[in-house]
Amino acid sequence: MRGPRTGRTERTQVGIVGAGPAGLLLSHLLALRGIDSVLVELRSRAYCEARQRAGVLEQGSVDLLRAAGLTGRLDTEGLEHGGIYLQFGGERQHVDFRELTGGRTVTVYAQTEVVKDLIAARLAAGAAIEFEVTDTEVADLETDRPVLRYTSADGVRHEVTCDAIAGCDGFHGICRPAIPAALRTVREREYPYAWLGILARVAPSTDELIYAHHPRGFALHSLRSPQVSRLYLQVPPGTDVAGWPDDKVWAELQLRLGLPGWDLKEGPVLEKSVTPMRSFVSEPMRHGRLFLAGDSAHIVPPTGAKGLNLALADVAMLADALGGLLAGRADLADAYSATCLERVWRSTHFSWWMTTMLHASPGADEMEAQLQLSQLRYVTSSRAAATSLAENYTGYPPLRAGAGLG
Ligand code: FAD
Ligand code: PHB
Repeated sequence: MRGPRTGRTERTQVGIVGAGPAGLLLSHLLALRGIDSVLVELRSRAYCEARQRAGVLEQGSVDLLRAAGLTGRLDTEGLEHGGIYLQFGGERQHVDFRELTGGRTVTVYAQTEVVKDLIAARLAAGAAIEFEVTDTEVADLETDRPVLRYTSADGVRHEVTCDAIAGCDGFHGICRPAIPAALRTVREREYPYAWLGILARVAPSTDELIYAHHPRGFALHSLRSPQVSRLYLQVPPGTDVAGWPDDKVWAELQLRLGLPGWDLKEGPVLEKSVTPMRSFVSEPMRHGRLFLAGDSAHIVPPTGAKGLNLALADVAMLADALGGLLAGRADLADAYSATCLERVWRSTHFSWWMTTMLHASPGADEMEAQLQLSQLRYVTSSRAAATSLAENYTGYPPLRAGAGLG
């Protein structure tokens, strides 16, 4: 293997590691304030744009993307939903977010599309995004000139001196481990199940998402567009997709989602993958001039549709904090970790609550099964309980108007 070519020394205001939704939106929000950044990404542009993940944006996330000028496809292709269905005990109940929250909604617009829009906006603005970098390192984090090092796709080693570094490099990134272990506190829970997800070329069989509790395990009917459906099944952790041919997936979805008089339409499967389920929070989200945002600091199980929304809320806070820091005011930067963690813990609790209410735990006894059913009946019959679900699902606390925009 050849070593990297001659090093290059550069200067920017903010070094950003990771071109997921967090890193891309941060670089866009900083540019709106006239702050320079260098954004480095391990994977190719095509890989980042195709990676199937989340699908639901809270109202605050939509408002933030709109206010940042990322309208266009979000406005024409995003599907506004005013509620969800909860299905259990052979019945499907609607939870009406609009009515319960005074008009709040969510929007179905896939993470792949958010990422495509952000990459296009950054490149159109002439921004530097380095895809397919290797050997990313961050150093001198406790000084006011932290350093980002990486080898670009052409084999050149770069050293970028920054005012601050944003670790937006996801759960498996290098930024969180760059904080000394003695200064980090991690809280973590693994769940005894995973999700098998499929993307299928078939019109959705529902107008809004269906979250189904079933003795055989949880199932979710989500969607991507009027022509494409996204569906999930609870499976044991470590499940190999090879053991789940398409006909077996559809048969299981029919069993768990089926209701008399309702038809689940089937179609060609375009993608199939298994996602582990975990709750994880690493505190604090700042060390010196390194700021963590999104999955690099926290992971939630997907049942509450919160992961992407938390990543976007973090970088709205971070853009404000860095704007202040670079102008000589440290108050928002000093408050960054605690401010984000308040929302992170709310979403962590909501995601855990939705997950434990809806999944079948292996080895669970009849006591647990009855407690789950009682909770589901309560949340669909009590206005107070349904309002709590609705305000959390649509985003709590609601993102402050103008957050991230200075
Ligand atoms: P990421 O999207 O993970 O982006 C981090 C980026 O950093 C990646 O592009 C990565 O390649 C890059 N990177 C990593 N290491 C380095 C390095 N050393 N140098 C440079 N770049 C690096 N959430 C939901 O709400 N609903 C869902 O259904 C859902 N499904 C999911 C399925 C999967 C398989 C996963 C992993 C997550 C899912 N999530 C879901 C969570 C949601 O997608 C994430 O919360 C969201 O992607 C977080 O965005 P991010 O920018 O923080 O991190
Ligand atoms: C999705 O559409 O991928 C999706 C929707 C809602 C969730 C999780 C995933 O809770």
